Amino acid sequence: MKKILAWVGILLFLGACSYVGYRAYLHIKAQNEKIAELERSLETTEKNLAEVTQNSASLLDALSAEQQKNGFLVEQAGTFAAAVQRLTGTVTTLEKLTKTDPELLIKYSKVYFLNEHYQPEKLTLLRKDYIYNSKEEYFHARALPYLENLLSEAQGAGIPLLLVSAFRSFETQNDLKSQYKVTFGTGANKFSAEQGYSEHQLGTAVDFTTPTLGVLFEKFDTTTSYLWLTENAHKYGFILSYPQGNTYYIYEPWHWRFVGVELAGKLHTENKHFYDMDQREINDYLVKIFD
Ligand code: DAL
Ligand code: ZN
Repeated sequence: MKKILAWVGILLFLGACSYVGYRAYLHIKAQNEKIAELERSLETTEKNLAEVTQNSASLLDALSAEQQKNGFLVEQAGTFAAAVQRLTGTVTTLEKLTKTDPELLIKYSKVYFLNEHYQPEKLTLLRKDYIYNSKEEYFHARALPYLENLLSEAQGAGIPLLLVSAFRSFETQNDLKSQYKVTFGTGANKFSAEQGYSEHQLGTAVDFTTPTLGVLFEKFDTTTSYLWLTENAHKYGFILSYPQGNTYYIYEPWHWRFVGVELAGKLHTENKHFYDMDQREINDYLVKIFD
């Protein structure tokens, strides 16, 4: 009986062990399957990650290409804007030039000729208190503000300054020259231009004097008025046309011509004279003559 019980015990023990072993086997199998599944999942995640990384790289490449394109476009826009600005400047310059009489900066004295029909675009009657003997004198309308400023500044500085002659038409110059020829013969050519060759026909030249000298202004360069002009006239765009030693006429300290503030300033600074400059160089200042 004891033997039987022992065998039953052994059998029960073996059965229990088999059961426990089997359960352990099932558990390990389930664990292994889970691990395999996790590994598969990890593999898929890695694959996805690689894809995402690759896509990101492509996106970054695309982004950088776009940025480059944008940079190029911005650069192009800048170039375009600069070109538009240049064109606008050119158009403004051309517009100004078409509205500016090209004759105003031509060297007339014995070089170029203004025909009998030439008249300045608009002449304005000068204030009588600026004229010696209150004669009627006309001046180029667009250059007038510069002359008036010059005269009023001189007046303010206590400088006696009057005009004795301004615009002279082709006919007036012809009459004047004829009168001079009667008195001085060919000697008149030294101080009086032939009709068509006088800067006075442009309406932008004036002869200055003082109340004391009046029409006898040959000694104008001995006055403080002349000295003031040599130091200040350029600020108002005026230059001395016929300085000492010029090859056209006698020294005419009274005769001044409007050429614009920029050109007059350049001539003053460089101590040069209008008629010594090349006509092509002078022409560059035409567009700025009324600036
Ligand atoms: N006196 C200057 C040269 C003129 O007649 O225009
Ligand atoms: Zn003159």
